Amino acid sequence: GDYSGPLRPQVHFSPPQGFMNDPNGMFVDANGTWHLYYQYNPTGLVPGNTHWGHATSQDLYHWTNQPIALFPENSTALIFTGSCVVDVNNTSGFFPDQDNGVVAIYTLNTPTEEVQQISYSFDGGYSFERYDGNPVLRIGSTQFRDPKVIWYNDHWVMVIAFAQDFAIGIYTSADLKEWKFASNVTHVGILGNQYECPNLVQVPVEGSDDAMWVLTISINPGAPQGGSITQYIPGDFNGTHFTPVDQVARTSSFAKDDYAAQFFYGTPAGSDAISIGWASNWQYTDQVPTAWEGWRSAMTIPRRHYLKNLTRTGWDLISAPYNLDAILGGELSYDSDFINKSVTVDFSGSPSNAIWFQANFTLASNLIYPSYASLNFSFSSKSTGESVSGGYLFGGANAGQAWLDRGRTYAFDNPFYTNRFSIAQAGLASQISALFDRSIIEMFLDGGDHSGTATFFPSEPLTRLTVATTGMPEGSEVRIGVWQVNSAWA
Ligand code: FRU
Repeated sequence: GDYSGPLRPQVHFSPPQGFMNDPNGMFVDANGTWHLYYQYNPTGLVPGNTHWGHATSQDLYHWTNQPIALFPENSTALIFTGSCVVDVNNTSGFFPDQDNGVVAIYTLNTPTEEVQQISYSFDGGYSFERYDGNPVLRIGSTQFRDPKVIWYNDHWVMVIAFAQDFAIGIYTSADLKEWKFASNVTHVGILGNQYECPNLVQVPVEGSDDAMWVLTISINPGAPQGGSITQYIPGDFNGTHFTPVDQVARTSSFAKDDYAAQFFYGTPAGSDAISIGWASNWQYTDQVPTAWEGWRSAMTIPRRHYLKNLTRTGWDLISAPYNLDAILGGELSYDSDFINKSVTVDFSGSPSNAIWFQANFTLASNLIYPSYASLNFSFSSKSTGESVSGGYLFGGANAGQAWLDRGRTYAFDNPFYTNRFSIAQAGLASQISALFDRSIIEMFLDGGDHSGTATFFPSEPLTRLTVATTGMPEGSEVRIGVWQVNSAWA
């Protein structure tokens, strides 16, 4: 693949060429190699002809493209979303002589039915053979897809979407071949038009040795911001049944480009859960103006997750950037007394055209701050007047709200490609950060208490960052740092 195009993200995964959507089959192997598969049309720039593409990484940022892992059997049987497990104990019987056998469990989509198939790999996930007893699960439905399998104590557990019934099925198995229906979770959270890509994952609770279960459900279309979004539901799981902890619908991003997130299989128990999402939206993904560079769609950066119990709003799934040390370069600017000041960083000399900033706040008093107390930032181009901007308000009627605006970049003709996003936080942020990567920005409040991912497509690279604070009360402490981000593809 050619990763040099001006819109090509440099620290986000994108396919060598062609069209990509959901992350699939993600697992980490015993050697610490991360495997990412993805919904892939290698021959076109729109969805269709769906394979599983494959890439591997040692640090979740530097990826090596691997040969395509799963191929459609014919032109009308598409390999849809699914997951992988490592069958260490050979429960499947496929792997008598090894403990690193990989099984992929996924949906085969045909014009008349969606069924679940498995394929197995003797070489640790690089090449697969189709099981001759497929399908392993079929209910005679055209809307039954996206199996995600995990290991629970002594059995396999699958969550799968009965997409248009707004139900997530839970199935169990001893051998990955025979699946038994256990229970349903229905009509939880935001319904949208259908449920897709469920995940069930154990997530540590901050500040304790406890863990809770989280069910994620992707909905499309019908997200609060329009189109597709991932929502999450904290709760309890006993091996067959999931019970939500409350009635609250919570979404994973306040912007429009974070969908179908999947969690890695094989991360050690007790450690943070790790996910990657698809950084696009079904409302406009087949129209985004990257086609001339030969590719469409990127993934989000990897996220590290734990749960926090917030005073007013309850369980919050923290979605923090996974170890940025792998990509952070030199400091471009630093100010430990950034009160009511502005800084401009010209990074046109940086070959990656990617940058990270982080601002930390300890505001002087708990009194109400002036209504204009805010942080604002803008990434702008040299000559076209294009920019992507955002900010956070500390005072006034909008205190605790963040915004992101991609409206001053090249617009393509799609009514759903909307410009402005915002989020209300319960309480004021003490940290605001953002990763800018050519055609994608990911903004984080308090290191992932909330995050917003938005794609944008400037006609000229945005190479200048201006950040400013105003209206900060005297005696506050505000620190800002801006860092170069090194290309993971160069
Ligand atoms: C979600 C989804 C899945 C399906 C796949 C097809 O984005 O629609 O439900 O398996 O994409 O590419």
